Amino acid sequence: MSLVSSTSLLQEARAKHYAIGAFNVHTLEMLQAVVEAAEEAQSPLIIQSTVGTVKHLGADYIAAAARVAADRASVPIALHLDHCNEFSVIISCIRAGYTSVMIDASHSPFEENVAMTQKVVEAANAVGINVEAELGKVGGVEDDIVVDERDALLADPKECAEFVERTGVHTLAPAIGTAHGIYKGTPNIDFDRIGRIAEAVDVPLVLHGGSGIPEEQVKRAVSLGMAKMNVATELRILFSDVHRKVSDAFAEIIDSCTRDGSVRSDLPIEETLSTVVNAFGIFSKKLSLQRSIVMFESIVSADVQLDLLKRMFLDYLRNPESAASDL
Ligand code: 13P
Repeated sequence: MSLVSSTSLLQEARAKHYAIGAFNVHTLEMLQAVVEAAEEAQSPLIIQSTVGTVKHLGADYIAAAARVAADRASVPIALHLDHCNEFSVIISCIRAGYTSVMIDASHSPFEENVAMTQKVVEAANAVGINVEAELGKVGGVEDDIVVDERDALLADPKECAEFVERTGVHTLAPAIGTAHGIYKGTPNIDFDRIGRIAEAVDVPLVLHGGSGIPEEQVKRAVSLGMAKMNVATELRILFSDVHRKVSDAFAEIIDSCTRDGSVRSDLPIEETLSTVVNAFGIFSKKLSLQRSIVMFESIVSADVQLDLLKRMFLDYLRNPESAASDL
């Protein structure tokens, strides 16, 4: 299947009262991991990248990887650009093959937000892809903020209706009390507001700040009209946790090699590792590919997979010839 626009996926989700997970990925392995998870769950998926990741990896690289994933997958997959207020980045993502983009002009006055969103909708409509926009300020909402200030930051249902009507935006992320990152306590979500916004607009609504929201709150928000749920921080925590464990495992392996006298202990880790790899004639690129696959399967069970990885690498060290033929 090719990458699809998220508009029809999200319209169906809103009509049938479920939400589609939209996960921020920063590496190829994270992308592979969320696609595998979606396959296993037989669920549609939205892969997202931040502007930072686009600038670091290149929109074309990300889109190419997402296309391969979508071609191989049996579930529909969309590729989305998360929070962006740079028109040129949005256009480069559309050109590269993104099937959804977010214009986030929520920090500008309402009229400017309308104008910038209109411009992006016009460009996106020309190629039939989805546009998401934001009203209110998701990122600025703190759990302990006083009510009047909080109210001023949250999306106003009447403004939402006017905004959707004037911009023709396909999906809307209204600020309703969630925040990006990990919550200090239980999130203070304004469910009544979600209900009023959902009555005022018929486009699918997007729940930002998905990490750490208790399950019953997620279900309630979805039952009220949230059709897309963004998750970034939780994945990043998992990713760095697995990375740390893998690095520790490598350090242990390297330590044991040093005891053999085969590798100098005063070399920096990376150099040491490549010395180990080269000394045994292992093609390091293939090894890291294999390592990545194992590592990200470990999202399910980090410890089991790490053991596997450790044993696999030790096998390489002991018997590189036969182990290499397994690749
Ligand atoms: P979290 O980092 O809280 O998961 O929020 C993600 C998000 O909303 C990205 O747009």
